[in-house]
Amino acid sequence: MFNVESVPELKRINFIAKRQGQKVKAALRINPDIIPGTHAYITTGKKETKFGIDTESAKKIFLEQKIFPNIELAGIHIHIGSQITRVAPFVRAVKKMYVFLEFLKERNIKINYLNIGGGLGIQYSNERVESIKEFASKLSPLLKATGLKIILEPGRFITGNSGILVAKVIYVKDSPVKRFIILDGAMNDFIRPSLYEAFHMIVPVEKKAPINSLRVRASDVVGPVCETGDFFGKNRKLAVEESEYVAIMGAGAYGQSMASNYNSRLRPAEVLVKTNRVSLIRKRETYQDLVKKEILI
Ligand SMILES: Cc1ncc(COP(=O)(O)O)c(C=O)c1O
Repeated sequence: MFNVESVPELKRINFIAKRQGQKVKAALRINPDIIPGTHAYITTGKKETKFGIDTESAKKIFLEQKIFPNIELAGIHIHIGSQITRVAPFVRAVKKMYVFLEFLKERNIKINYLNIGGGLGIQYSNERVESIKEFASKLSPLLKATGLKIILEPGRFITGNSGILVAKVIYVKDSPVKRFIILDGAMNDFIRPSLYEAFHMIVPVEKKAPINSLRVRASDVVGPVCETGDFFGKNRKLAVEESEYVAIMGAGAYGQSMASNYNSRLRPAEVLVKTNRVSLIRKRETYQDLVKKEILI
């Protein structure tokens, strides 16, 4: 079904469905006005954000749904944000939806689905993240009590820690104040640190003899793009040298999907590793790929 989050969207879907002689299912995305305790850019369930419809307007839409005869409002949807490491905000949001469902029930308005979105956080470092078991045990009773079919949309939780970005050290540069480890990977390949100041562990690909970390100079691990925001990690104790490889951990979600060709850089290949099998699942881009859609006049 369509998850709809504005009246103009409802109007357009209704218009197209009518033109095609269809009646389509939709869920109304409600903004429950919840602070999920994550980065502002991935907070999507607070009333100041562009997402969803406030509860009062949503009530009105349900009461007046006859004005969209080609849409069947079959459910409600929420998605309060991403990388949420505590269950409490989800519980608060579902409880708010409970009140909303009561409103519908009292008016004999029937729906079948409650979509609670995605947003389950993963561990990127040594921070405490509530487990999927805690998530289930705290939420299941509330969800069961609704009697509705429940839909979840976890993204990062499924893939985040299954992927790494491997990059080569192209230079190690010392300045009077800092050391910079310059990689051949950059913000265009993996933008989370630049965009959200996200922390990702960075480790040498090859195991080395234990080193005395006191003798390792703290370094900024950066890319070669002309942006000060082009970094993967700051002040890291990383004993690597030119031509060695590092792994940027937790790059399996919002990695390749957010990659770009900024700075005319070619996106890297993707490799799937399953037990002992290694398969290329996306080819490295070529310069030909980069220019193939450009038109000379
Ligand atoms: C509507 C909706 N559902 C689910 C997701 C997935 O979120 P996550 O990867 O945090 O689970 C997103 C992410 O943007 C989203 O916008």
